[in-house]
Amino acid sequence: MSPPTDFQALTPESVRAVLRTRKLGQTLHILEETPSTNTAALALAQKGAEDGTVVVAERQTAGRGRLGRRWFSPPGENLYCSVILRPTPAPDRIAEWLSWAPLLSAVATARAVQAVSGLHPLLKWPNDILVGHRKLGGVLCESNGSHAHGTFVVVGIGLNVNTKRENFPDDLREIATSLAAEAGHSFDRAALLAALLAELEATAESLLMGKPTTFVHVYTALCSTVGRRVRVNLAGGESVEGWADSIGMDGSLRIKKDGANTETMLEVRAGDVIHLR
Ligand code: BTN
Repeated sequence: MSPPTDFQALTPESVRAVLRTRKLGQTLHILEETPSTNTAALALAQKGAEDGTVVVAERQTAGRGRLGRRWFSPPGENLYCSVILRPTPAPDRIAEWLSWAPLLSAVATARAVQAVSGLHPLLKWPNDILVGHRKLGGVLCESNGSHAHGTFVVVGIGLNVNTKRENFPDDLREIATSLAAEAGHSFDRAALLAALLAELEATAESLLMGKPTTFVHVYTALCSTVGRRVRVNLAGGESVEGWADSIGMDGSLRIKKDGANTETMLEVRAGDVIHLR
């Protein structure tokens, strides 16, 4: 597959011209092709790359999604970006930071999309970015675990920017979308990347300063899962149906299972949610 004809390459110059962050993206690796920007960023982080280092690729040959899925990554059309964060919360708040980072990264992505395009994406728990019922983007966070010192997290963000509806593969055409497909025109990926990094920087700072009650509030305001009937395919293969009631203090999805006592909530920390009508 070759890049589109109206393709404008992402270059360090085009990104720096619009980048307004203090830290995120100040060290920026733009790769022509890589298996996965997350894999590349994890390797850099292991070797000591600094907080805020960003890896972007024009194309991924083995882009990874959540739950072992692949991520559609054609050349020159979209954003495939991984950010190394080295959080410094108090040791007793590292677990909280790690549990909220993926959810609030999705909030940052939705805000950046809104700022650049005027669209109003919503979130399907935990971190799918949707326009209507179609998926515009997703977040895959990977970390080296919760160490008192030296924790790092790679926030991997995939955003469908300029892929035309007809160019999505058959299995994605009905369930995925792009900014161009929604707005009817193409978008400048450098401007979008700069907006994304600015929102993510603000989010990473709020994660150090804020409280879980604030995170719950901020996330719930953008989450289209809460207040719906859902089916959740849990990690062990079990599947449950019920009412998505609320977000827990650790970012879990609290579900009132069909037939369960009104007081009993199932707290889901990992799984695949399907919105039911
Ligand atoms: C999801 O399943 O919704 C998460 C998708 C995350 C895709 C991005 S693209 C950049 C980074 N590199 C990867 O291999 N995955 C993430």
